[in-house]
Amino acid sequence: KKITVTVIKADVGGLVGHTSVHPELLEKARGVLSGSPLLIDFYVTSVGDDINLIMTHELGRNNGEIHKLAWDTFVACTEVAKKLKLYGAGQDLLADAFSGNIKGLGPGIAEMEVEERESEPIVIFMADKTEPGAWNLPLYKIFADPFNTIGLVIDPKMHCGFTFEVRDLIENKKIMFNAPEDIYDMLVFIGAPGRYAIKRIFHRETGQIAAVSSVQRLNLIAGRYIGKDDPVCIVRCQSGYPAVGEVLEPFAHPHLVSGWMRGSHSGPLMPVSLKDARPSRFDGPPRVVALGFQLADGKLIGPQDLFDDPAFDRAREMANIIADYMRRLGPFEPHRLHLDEMEYTTMPMVMQKLKDRFIDLRLAKAQKAQKEKGGA
Ligand code: 13P
Ligand code: 13P
Ligand code: MG
Ligand code: MG
Ligand code: MG
Ligand code: MG
Repeated sequence: KKITVTVIKADVGGLVGHTSVHPELLEKARGVLSGSPLLIDFYVTSVGDDINLIMTHELGRNNGEIHKLAWDTFVACTEVAKKLKLYGAGQDLLADAFSGNIKGLGPGIAEMEVEERESEPIVIFMADKTEPGAWNLPLYKIFADPFNTIGLVIDPKMHCGFTFEVRDLIENKKIMFNAPEDIYDMLVFIGAPGRYAIKRIFHRETGQIAAVSSVQRLNLIAGRYIGKDDPVCIVRCQSGYPAVGEVLEPFAHPHLVSGWMRGSHSGPLMPVSLKDARPSRFDGPPRVVALGFQLADGKLIGPQDLFDDPAFDRAREMANIIADYMRRLGPFEPHRLHLDEMEYTTMPMVMQKLKDRFIDLRLAKAQKAQKEKGGA
């Protein structure tokens, strides 16, 4: 029997500003999902201002009914958000109506269909104030770096390595890389996470899915800045896949991600428990939550709030130190994002306004030379 795990998330209104989700919205979401005969099980939670619908079913990936159920849930939550006048009500719902598949309509989605193993531990990562490429570094470490994942060396079922499907989010292309032999080529691309994002990872021997992430780019869909594409990621663990501890280990060293304050700043990704997933300092710093589940005939047994562990206290301290350092840079790069990433902010407007005040130095020099020649 094949089970599909579908995680769909959206920001449909923040309490207060962009910090968290009002409990009434979560209640509404639970109410809508519990009324559906399509699901085997579900778990509704929030990280920052994003609602996450974790659902299991037997309908496979890209199922229109499941996608519509999520869409309808977010629409119902938006009603509540509007009533409470929450900030940015309906923010991530970019289409006026559902049209067959939720992709491209605003919400983020990650789905995997699995033949449930004798034991099927999965970890679901959910982040706020960042973007899909934020998973590149940790996914690389988990599935390609033996200094993180000793299983790549000593587990005979993992020694063959993994295949990475990388998406070009600007040109909408994909390419497959095999680890370990293609890692130098792959790093050229995934080291640029604003453009290239790891979409899926497969076990090389079995061809089975190992991880999947959401890779929507809201700004590209909307054509204007409407918040970040706060991403989710599902990872299978143990028995041929990385151990749960290997899957969590990269987050012990907070890496810099894009998406802090107005989606325009870089900052450390802080691993936190659900109760601390309410980013407030400068609307951040960016947060990541990891919920672990055991699948049992599609039932979601758990969750275990995996970063709710004092062993991650030092990572949180480090993230705060990095946050202090980055904040001191104020509006300067690399705290503020590179110009290319500022396209959907006021940058083009300011450029347009000042374009006549820019003096073209090459042209000025040529004109001067022309004048001197004419005078001689
Ligand atoms: P236990 O002996 O606690 O089950 O640990 C097994 C293991 O491999 C941990 O990585
Ligand atoms: P969200 O994408 O989480 O809504 O954040 C938007 C923002 O601009 C925060 O400063
Ligand atoms: Mg928001
Ligand atoms: Mg958000
Ligand atoms: Mg967002
Ligand atoms: Mg054990």
